[in-house]
Amino acid sequence: MEKRKVILDCDPGHDDAIAIMLAAKSPLLDLLGVTVVAGNQTLDKTVMNALNVCQHLNLDVPVYRGCGQPMIRDKQVVAPNIHGESGLDGPVFAPLTRQAEPQHAVLYLVETLLQSDGDITVVTTGPMTNLAMAIRLNPDILPKIKEIVLMGGTYQLGNVTPAAEFNVFADADAAHVVFTSGRKITMVGLDVSRKALCLPSVMARMGQIQTPAGKLFVEIMTYFNQTQKQVFGWDGAPLHDPITIAFLIDPTVLTTKAMFTQIDIRSDQSYGRTNCDFFQKSGQQPNSFVAVDIDVAKFWDIIEAGLRAYDE
Ligand code: BDR
Ligand code: CA
Repeated sequence: MEKRKVILDCDPGHDDAIAIMLAAKSPLLDLLGVTVVAGNQTLDKTVMNALNVCQHLNLDVPVYRGCGQPMIRDKQVVAPNIHGESGLDGPVFAPLTRQAEPQHAVLYLVETLLQSDGDITVVTTGPMTNLAMAIRLNPDILPKIKEIVLMGGTYQLGNVTPAAEFNVFADADAAHVVFTSGRKITMVGLDVSRKALCLPSVMARMGQIQTPAGKLFVEIMTYFNQTQKQVFGWDGAPLHDPITIAFLIDPTVLTTKAMFTQIDIRSDQSYGRTNCDFFQKSGQQPNSFVAVDIDVAKFWDIIEAGLRAYDE
């Protein structure tokens, strides 16, 4: 079977790192490139973290440095309370010898999509600045995007404000550009990721896996579980970002519902909210498939298989 071509745009980030791990070794996916954006930490740090993960796991995937600031707002929101000062606190990596590619991530997205046969899926697991900038830089890429699968948003409660989820809040204008792009969008929000909790039973299960990926998973999630407990009180961290990749591997892992989703880029109180028209009140045509449920057992099976796909 032909592998599905994927570009992963991310801000590693603990859960982003696991999304990279999962995407890079799946026999169903062809991970063309990893594009990096500021988000969980500053751009220098998220790029370094992506390179560290790729070097540690010996992944032959090019990494591109993207935008270090939101499209319009001056201030980059970062999340040291969740991801630490490095953006990937916990694991200790060997000195970094790998480097990012010389091309800017936005230019890589434009060039790669334009040259494609319209068969590339773009996955975003961070603020959507790189993808939105690429769309604005050259709208001819739009028909070339097969579909967009993004981790972000919520139709319930936010995690950075009562209304907003981090990735959308960090660059709501970019999310607005993506959600008005007219391309097929699957939104994997907190509504489902809060069901995929990395509980002690999951840690024990993944702790049995003696591959480099299995060991790195445990190191990453040990730290992530601690901060999620401190900040939100979870007994296990929601494993947000890898759900996008799990969905590409097996779409039956999610139940989705077509909804019209509008990003709040105007109000103070609810800035960055994904207003998902769950009950079809707006009369607007749906522009997104919003994940409303997740088969948690299936999700952890996919994660386990992904970690076992690495040589011991
Ligand atoms: C999202 O925010 C980041 O902290 C995570 O990496 C994830 O992409 C969850 O709101
Ligand atoms: Ca992320």
